[in-house]
Amino acid sequence: MPKYTKKDFDTHKVRRFLEPGPIVLVSSAHKGETNIMTMGWHMIMEFEPSLIGCYIWTENHSFEMIRRSKQCVINIPTVDLAAKVVKIGNSSGREIDKFSEFGLTPKPGTHVRAPLIDECYANFECRLADSSLIRKYSLFVLEVVKAHVATSPKYPRTIHYRGDGEFMISGTNTSRYRKLFRPQML
Ligand SMILES: Cc1cc2nc3c(=O)[nH]c(=O)nc-3n(C[C@H](O)[C@H](O)[C@H](O)COP(=O)(O)O)c2cc1C
Repeated sequence: MPKYTKKDFDTHKVRRFLEPGPIVLVSSAHKGETNIMTMGWHMIMEFEPSLIGCYIWTENHSFEMIRRSKQCVINIPTVDLAAKVVKIGNSSGREIDKFSEFGLTPKPGTHVRAPLIDECYANFECRLADSSLIRKYSLFVLEVVKAHVATSPKYPRTIHYRGDGEFMISGTNTSRYRKLFRPQML
């Protein structure tokens, strides 16, 4: 087992170790307008119903679009879209139409009015399930009401943010530890 030498670490930087869930693109629609934002701060809150907590900064154009429309789509991009993902996260839908600017295809959803991003590996249509934490924490609790996932590859090469402009790209997968799980914990 590894033995680590440790040093004090800035508490405000610990997110670098916790963050690497996949970076997602959140698409929304409100009053005839569509938009996309990049998001790293999301967490699973429940699996049935499927609830996801998402931090959306008040200054983002997406904030009011999602708060008012009460809907959005969480899209999972793969590494081939990485440059677009960064550019989408460094521009605002207040100034540009991100679908046309970044050459992405809006596809109608089945349960929400927000568009799916066709080029993404997976698309989760979401409805705002709880708005009570928005004012205090900018935390949107979303329920996934419909999911569309590519049939292959089984393991997409997703992108994971490490802070400071650095990313990790998902790679090695193993089921070596599967036998250590109790079936109900899988
Ligand atoms: C890698 C990355 C991760 C980001 N994660 C978040 C996030 O979790 N929450 C958030 O509010 N903004 C996040 N942002 C910033 C938004 O994507 C950015 O402010 C975006 O331009 C907002 O677009 P909008 O004004 O069109 O809504 C992230 C940006 C990048 C590049």
